[in-house]
Amino acid sequence: MAEDLHILQGTKEEQYQSLLPQIKGLLEGETDLVANLANVAAALKAQFQWFWVGFYVVKNNELVVGPFQGPVACTRIKKGKGVCGTCWAKAKTIIVPDVEKFPGHIACSSLSRSEIVIPAIKNNDVVAVLDVDSEYLDQFDATDQQYLEAIVKEISFY
Ligand code: SME
Repeated sequence: MAEDLHILQGTKEEQYQSLLPQIKGLLEGETDLVANLANVAAALKAQFQWFWVGFYVVKNNELVVGPFQGPVACTRIKKGKGVCGTCWAKAKTIIVPDVEKFPGHIACSSLSRSEIVIPAIKNNDVVAVLDVDSEYLDQFDATDQQYLEAIVKEISFY
């Protein structure tokens, strides 16, 4: 497997279409979850340069921060708290165009302005979430939801 990522310039959709098969390649044949989460976070950061991108993993009924790219973040989030905990509780992707307007948003950094959180579901349970933060307002839409959900589905959780 080539470890070099090909970074494509273009529309958001073109960028995801270029990245998705590369992420599949990174995951192929590797069973270690931390390794896979780390490489997915790094690939997304390299392509999109988001402020923060990474995973929170459900452990002992809390979300615990996992592999990520970006500034240090809050370590633990309870179910139903913040955008991540709400995504976990609802088992649905949540798009927040303006974090100041999301009641209970957990501000790990005051620079974060918009956010998308995608649940990873195994056997009907949320086992982790993928959290992406931007320092710009209104950065995430249905295209991000479609492709980020597809990327999360490629990861084998255990
Ligand atoms: N903003 C998130 C917390 C995680 S950080 O953004 C990395 C939330 O409200 O759940």
